Amino acid sequence: MFITFEGIDGSGKSTQIQLLKDMLEKRNHVVTLLREPGGNILSEQIRQLLLDSKEQVDPRCELLLFTAARAQLVSSVIRPALEAGYIVICDRYIDSSVAYQGYGRGLSIESIESINDFATAGLVPDITFIFDLSVDDAAKRAGFRSNDNQTKADRMERSGDAFFERTKQGYLEIAKKSDRNIFIINANDAMNDIREQVESIVERYL
Ligand code: TYD
Repeated sequence: MFITFEGIDGSGKSTQIQLLKDMLEKRNHVVTLLREPGGNILSEQIRQLLLDSKEQVDPRCELLLFTAARAQLVSSVIRPALEAGYIVICDRYIDSSVAYQGYGRGLSIESIESINDFATAGLVPDITFIFDLSVDDAAKRAGFRSNDNQTKADRMERSGDAFFERTKQGYLEIAKKSDRNIFIINANDAMNDIREQVESIVERYL
């Protein structure tokens, strides 16, 4: 089973990912936990390029680097883990490219969907959770203002509040249009409530 977590920066998905992993391992499932971009040497190097670049990065270049990292992660880690019968949990996947590079940066959604499909050789998640909260709340949680260039925020995080507003709305559009199993989680709910929501949905598909 392949589960992905999505949402704008600061939406609190990492805590819930860890809680879900613990729950599944207690039930004797083998869990492979990954993050995008990353999860293998080449993809971590691409991550550094993307998040630390001091140069202006062209949106198309950004899209192709994120999806290149994804292609490597799918073929070297995700597919082998799924074939071994493991549960794979990935912090971000194809919907991040649609939300950030499509709705956020303004690239064609259709093109991104087709590049995603090419990069992953058609591998889609069984379940996707989208953590939804306001850009303001997300910024508070992440500890940065996205218009502020002086903080520890990485290159993506410095994209500005308007960018994150488009990205947030983009995630909601994705959920509305998709015929996959996508669940929107209100990230303002109490931690324990979110944990229960996530667990009960996953249990339905186990
Ligand atoms: P990360 O520090 O992992 O953010 P988070 O902890 O919020 O997941 O950095 C990943 C950043 O890259 C994040 O700002 C989202 C962005 N991103 C894209 O813009 N497109 C993509 O396809 C992916 C996978 C990530």
